[in-house]
Amino acid sequence: MHSMDQDIDHILVSEEQLKAKVTELGAQISRDYQGKDLLLVSILKGSVVFMADLMRAITIPCGIDFMVVSSYGGANTESTGLVKIVKDLDADLSGKDVLIVEDILDTGITLSHLLPMLQLRRPNSVRLCTILSKPSRRKAQIEPDYLGFEVPDEFVVGYGLDYNELYRNLPYVGVLKPEIYTK
Ligand code: IMP
Ligand code: MG
Repeated sequence: MHSMDQDIDHILVSEEQLKAKVTELGAQISRDYQGKDLLLVSILKGSVVFMADLMRAITIPCGIDFMVVSSYGGANTESTGLVKIVKDLDADLSGKDVLIVEDILDTGITLSHLLPMLQLRRPNSVRLCTILSKPSRRKAQIEPDYLGFEVPDEFVVGYGLDYNELYRNLPYVGVLKPEIYTK
């Protein structure tokens, strides 16, 4: 049987570390958004695992919604700039306290285009919660309001993040063996 573990060179963030951090983030968000009209907005597909865990770590009432965006033109692992909404939100954002839930903040280009688009819909607030961040890759002026872990400039998979749509279901964050890319 081919196990995904065989394709991993090394683990960057373990399942236990993720679990502890998500619990911590959920508690912090629950305190910060007490009495607010919180709406969690998950950017698909990468944030699906984090979203499912984070929403259960939040103890105050909140809504959830999903959005699919794509950046035009770039290669597989790079982001170019322009953002297209492939699947829009169902919810009306007016008066809502929106918390965007993301897998990773890399260059930040995708979100730097998406945030102003959401601001136009007159939410009460918009903030960003991301489980991973690669600060050394940043091109746009954007930083997470809630952050799980900083990772080095390496392509990572697992906990929702993919390589060619695979490895999203790994319960930890890791780096693939180099030979996987050359297959
Ligand atoms: P940004 O616009 O460069 O910040 O791109 C962010 C998106 O690129 C993330 O939501 C991921 O889908 C993808 N991405 C960036 N870095 C990685 C990585 O190391 N592994 C998998 N996907 C990544
Ligand atoms: Mg992706």
